[in-house]
Amino acid sequence: MTPATPQPRWSLQDISFDHIQKERIVQDQDWFYLLAGASFVESLADLYAHNLVAYYDDNPSAQHWLGREWEPEELQHGRALRAYVLAVWPDFDWEAAYAAFERAYRPLCADGLLGPTKALEMAARCVVETGTSSFYGMIQAASPEPVLRDLAARIRADEVHHYKYFYRYFREYQQHERLSRWRLLRELLRRIAEVDQEDSFLAIKAAYETHNRGQTFSRADFDAYRRRMGNWIQRYYPFEMAVKMLLKPMDLPRLLQRAAVPLLTRKARKVLAN
Ligand SMILES: [Fe+2]
Ligand SMILES: [Fe+2]
Repeated sequence: MTPATPQPRWSLQDISFDHIQKERIVQDQDWFYLLAGASFVESLADLYAHNLVAYYDDNPSAQHWLGREWEPEELQHGRALRAYVLAVWPDFDWEAAYAAFERAYRPLCADGLLGPTKALEMAARCVVETGTSSFYGMIQAASPEPVLRDLAARIRADEVHHYKYFYRYFREYQQHERLSRWRLLRELLRRIAEVDQEDSFLAIKAAYETHNRGQTFSRADFDAYRRRMGNWIQRYYPFEMAVKMLLKPMDLPRLLQRAAVPLLTRKARKVLAN
C-alpha cells in the first residue's frame, strides 16, 4: 500500500462561503437540520478514529492512514459543514447543539462494538463509507444552492476515496481470514441496519432543541422528518452505486452480481424511500 498523504486534498479556503446564494436555501428548515446533523456526526470522527487505531495495532500502515488522513478529512467535513450552516443560519448556537449531541451520543460508542474480526470491521467500514458517499451524492444532486453543491461534491469524493482504502485493507485481511460469503453477508446486513439510525436521530434532535428552546424533538417528529426526506431519497439517492459498493467485498461471480444489482437496487429504493 502506498504511504498515506498527510494533507487533505482540499481545504476550507477552497470553498466560496462568501458567495453562498442564501435566498435559495435559508427558508428550508429541512436543509438546516440535515446539514447541522451531518456536521455533528462528522465532527465526532476523532472518537471512531481512536477506537479503530487501537483495534488495528497489528497494522502500522492502516494506523498511519487512519490517523493522518482519514481522521483529519472527516474532521474537515465537520468544520466545512459547520461553516456552511453558520454562513446561512448565523443565529444557530452550533457549539451548544454539538455539546448536547456529544453528551447523548458518546456513551453509545463503546469500543467493544468493533469487530468481530479485522476483515469484518474493514468490511463494515466499507458499509459506512458507502452510506456517507451516497448521502453526499444525494445532497450534491438535490442542493438548490451552488456552493453547497460544490462542498457536497468534495466531501463525496473523499468518502469514495475512504471506501477504496477500507476495501483494500479488507482484502488484505480477507486473504488470511478467508471468510465465507455468508459470513460477510450476515455482517454487512447487520451493519447496514445500524447505519444512520441512532446518530442521525440524536444529531437532529440536538439541532432542533437548541434552535427551538424549550421544545422537545420526539421519535414521531423524526419519523415525519424522514417521511419528508423520502421524496429526496426517491429522486436523488444513488441507489445503484450504493448497492454495487455494498456487494463488492463479497466478490460475487459476475453473473450473480449482474442479476443481484437491479434486484437489490429496487429493493433498497423501496425500503429507504418509504
Ligand atoms: Fe465524512
Ligand atoms: Fe469517510
